[in-house]
Amino acid sequence: MCGIVGYIGEKEKKKIILKGLKELEYRGYDSAGMAILKGNDITHFKAVGKLKNLEEKTKNFTSEGFGLAIGHTRWATHGKPNEINAHPHLGEYSYVIHNGIIENHQELKNELQEKGFSFLSQTDSEVIVHLFEMFIKEGFGAFEAFEKTVKKLQGAYAILLISKVDKEKIFFAKNLVPLIVGKSSENEIFFSSSDAPLIGYAQDVVYLHDKTYGYAQKGEINIYENSVLQKPKFKKLSISKLSAQKEGFRFFMEKEIYEQSAVASETLMGRVQKNRVILDDIDDSFFNEINEIKICACGTSYHAALASSYLFERVSKIKCSVEIASEFRYKEPLLKNDTLFIVISQSGETADTLQALKMAKKAGLKTLAVCNVDNSSIVRISDEILLTRAGIEKGVASTKAFTTQFIVLWMLALKLGELKGNLGQNIVESEIETLLKVPAVLKVDEKIHEKIRRLSKRYLHGHGFFFIGRDLFFPLALEGALKLKEISYLHAEGYPAGEMKHGPIALADSELFTVALMPKTMLYDKVKSNVEELSARDATILALSPLEFDIADDFIKTKGYDHPMLEFFEMSVIVQLLALEISVRLGNDVDMPRNLAKSVTVE
Ligand code: M6R
Repeated sequence: MCGIVGYIGEKEKKKIILKGLKELEYRGYDSAGMAILKGNDITHFKAVGKLKNLEEKTKNFTSEGFGLAIGHTRWATHGKPNEINAHPHLGEYSYVIHNGIIENHQELKNELQEKGFSFLSQTDSEVIVHLFEMFIKEGFGAFEAFEKTVKKLQGAYAILLISKVDKEKIFFAKNLVPLIVGKSSENEIFFSSSDAPLIGYAQDVVYLHDKTYGYAQKGEINIYENSVLQKPKFKKLSISKLSAQKEGFRFFMEKEIYEQSAVASETLMGRVQKNRVILDDIDDSFFNEINEIKICACGTSYHAALASSYLFERVSKIKCSVEIASEFRYKEPLLKNDTLFIVISQSGETADTLQALKMAKKAGLKTLAVCNVDNSSIVRISDEILLTRAGIEKGVASTKAFTTQFIVLWMLALKLGELKGNLGQNIVESEIETLLKVPAVLKVDEKIHEKIRRLSKRYLHGHGFFFIGRDLFFPLALEGALKLKEISYLHAEGYPAGEMKHGPIALADSELFTVALMPKTMLYDKVKSNVEELSARDATILALSPLEFDIADDFIKTKGYDHPMLEFFEMSVIVQLLALEISVRLGNDVDMPRNLAKSVTVE
């Protein structure tokens, strides 16, 4: 996810921008840049890769004395991660940085090109600076030109713009992605995408609302909504960096669970239109002659793979097999050229997954990576990539990575179904409608979280947990069990509900805890019978369902969405919270559980 910082004041601007960007590194990025306006000059720098490359480029540059500065870390969405696509984007005399996606950029670009504006980059962001200069050319003052620019934009944005036409001001706008503006006791102004870069600099901050815009100049912040000047609502900034990064949550895992709704929007951004899925820069021809899919991954990513296999077969009507990467490596697999080989990885560095990918490439298969970290080894090697855009995941127990992986795979299943002619237009449209509901479904329901917090005290002992479900909810059961064992150190297994009677039911007694995933849209009656079999043998049942279920010892009532995918995402958040709260009660280190590493780069 891109990061934004800005500064108005007397101090060395380069240092403030670099320090600020460093604090935003956790969001993930593949290039960075800054622009500094001082007197009559704007100087800008861009560099691909880590911030040290930008540092190196700016090492002989100093910028003391009054001026304006904007800085940006870019996580590529439109266009490759190269210097031209890095921000700031330049017009003739103005510079802009942007986080988000301008959905109508193509239409605006055509309009601007017809008027003689030329574009350097492949990004959607560049339209902003040219629009601004177009309005200046038409005779508007700087603020009016900026206001008119913002009104033409559709989509998500946090924008900072500086221009030689008004050397005192930074113009800003915000919609759907975060932007904070703050001021110090010395009348300096700061901008940032999150709290952390502001700590130690700004004392009072305003968390900008959606659809607000305005300008800041020395000691002054003017915020507008619908052309009406607003009274800024200042808040005192917290002074702890760690808690700023955790944004008030107890653990990174908890923050990441709560963040899923927002990151899901990032995952979807620019990838869906009313009636079709657009998979970044992947040309449709890449999928020509593909008759089969094989997916390889480890851990949670394997569970996302397994869940998606139901979609590839049911929705796209393409044969799909899934393998644990460490098993695949040594089984001397038979690979055919008409198979699309997909690897899924949050880190992009998992040794087993990387090796599996190399084997597939060697065998001449087309390869596609679903990954969260751009420029990772897996991304560099794959023929094509779909980034999950979850932002940096710090908790060892993966949560938002899983969610975004499954969203990307759902989009891919729809795309393939459409390309293969196996999905009617009306189905694609209604699936897309459902897809767009996912961010809302992922919003944590505080009442349910509170209930889980209370229930968790009953599940701290026993001789084991079974998470059970059918169909899509079987991989979710596996994931729920993995979450629990990783951070609670209690024994937990995920099982297909219908398989319990073939052995595991022998374990049933009151000390066997069964977490039953009972969606109403997916084989409800079948799962119900399986749970009744367990209950008859005295197993303790915690049921998750929108339908009342009398024999459950504990019951979490879900909302009862009409689509299995929505029920899936809702229950996914619940099993994550359950693991979290049990671990908290047991006093474990939620974010860094014993014996585990975030990225497993060994066999
Ligand atoms: O980075 P990857 O997605 O390739 O990592 C795979 C597994 O190591 C990872 O999902 C692991 O199982 C997590 N700790 C699960 O929470």
